[in-house]
Amino acid sequence: MNVIHLSVECYPVAKVGGLADVVGALPKYQRKLGIDASVVMPWYNKPYIQSHDFEVVAEGGFYQGSQYLNYIVYHHEETNLGFSLYLIKIPGYLDRSEVYGYEDDSEQWLAFQHAFLHWILTNNIRPDVINCHDHHVGLIPFLLKNGNDFRELSSIKTLFTIHNGQYQGWMNWSKGILLPGFDTWKWGLLDWSGSINPLSSAVRCCDAYSTVSEGYLGELVHEAKGLESLFVEQAYKSHGIVNGIDPEIWNPSKDPLINSKYNARTVKSGKRKNKEAFCENNGISSDGLLLTYIGRFAHEKGADILASVLDNFYSNNENKLTIFILGSGDSSIQQDIENVFTKYAPKIAVYFGYNEALAHEAYAASDVILMPSRVEPCGLNQLYALKYGTIPVVRGVGGLKDTVLDVSQENGYGFVFNDFTIESIVDAIQRALAYYSKEKDWSVITRKAMSLDFSWEKSAQKYIDLYNQLLK
Ligand code: GLC
Repeated sequence: MNVIHLSVECYPVAKVGGLADVVGALPKYQRKLGIDASVVMPWYNKPYIQSHDFEVVAEGGFYQGSQYLNYIVYHHEETNLGFSLYLIKIPGYLDRSEVYGYEDDSEQWLAFQHAFLHWILTNNIRPDVINCHDHHVGLIPFLLKNGNDFRELSSIKTLFTIHNGQYQGWMNWSKGILLPGFDTWKWGLLDWSGSINPLSSAVRCCDAYSTVSEGYLGELVHEAKGLESLFVEQAYKSHGIVNGIDPEIWNPSKDPLINSKYNARTVKSGKRKNKEAFCENNGISSDGLLLTYIGRFAHEKGADILASVLDNFYSNNENKLTIFILGSGDSSIQQDIENVFTKYAPKIAVYFGYNEALAHEAYAASDVILMPSRVEPCGLNQLYALKYGTIPVVRGVGGLKDTVLDVSQENGYGFVFNDFTIESIVDAIQRALAYYSKEKDWSVITRKAMSLDFSWEKSAQKYIDLYNQLLK
């Protein structure tokens, strides 16, 4: 079976969030399970691409509206990646240094999708399945079936994987002329409430769609930024497949990015050494509980509540808690965090930006991680944390609800709260503090956490089973 994963992010080539981690790991594990899986993504002006050799495998061009766009397809068979990687470059669109944040993002993704289809059509590439990830490539299922030029491709099956239904890629109908020609009477399949909505179009036109956890799938029918009725209507072809993590990258017993390696047997001393070094490097005390937040400063991640939660703790003279925050995003959230940092340093250390190596160190050093998400389709940070014996304190939503079991339950290993309020977050952290003070209980849950298996094998197989179902 031949599967192409189509995505605008893929670790380690270009990463903004969890989407990249999934697309950088899933195809590798699918290959280990015997199918031919590859990744097609845009070309970026990024270090990984500049420092590796690529071979040009195709060139072509097409009209996007009145503009003629040339594309080049590069190929790289990288044994370290574990899958073969194709990059599509379009001068002026797909040659940028950042993944998102340009005014013409939607033109850019349109060009990517059109070039992809043009390339596979003219080069006689016929995958069995195209697994599209998120709205940036959400028009593929529609175009495969209704695009004037792509009829030959219409028997290719599509799985659309939703990593985040908050972002739908909607655009004004004035951009409709930029799309490749299609059966105009089918325009309704592109439309949602008067705009072109790539996410809703993908859900309607794909052969099946999946979300990155079962919990999130259940939530979408109640809350999906206006698409709730769509998810009710299309539920018959929906599947929830929880993400995994790549133990070749996330494994404290061989992680080259951490100070002292450890396993479940040596977790106590290993984490202590990492914590001491980490706290010293970051100018914070290693005495109390070290709580870390890693992630985007976004409303959906609940990052806006962090500053008030910390204020609440420290204004009550909490001395047993030290905080490390690593992230970037919304500037007003960043400002609030900067303010609490100034007020309470050296109890708090912050790093504004993206830093993969520092994230590894932080998981190895921390006692707990906090994820107060409003919405969490899966969440990978709690899974990385567990693997490093770092206890998750999470809100019980989406994938967090599916993967973290509260200590009050049999075999529990985390702290789960339900309300998105300062009080309930503070209460969960207090519970963690109390638990942490009982050394034996704490070491039971850290060992338990490390023994859980959230690696990709199981979930990669579920995707393959689903592809097989589509091909029947
Ligand atoms: C998005 C979601 C996150 C998920 C990730 C990978 O970033 O917000 O919950 O884990 O995609 O699927």
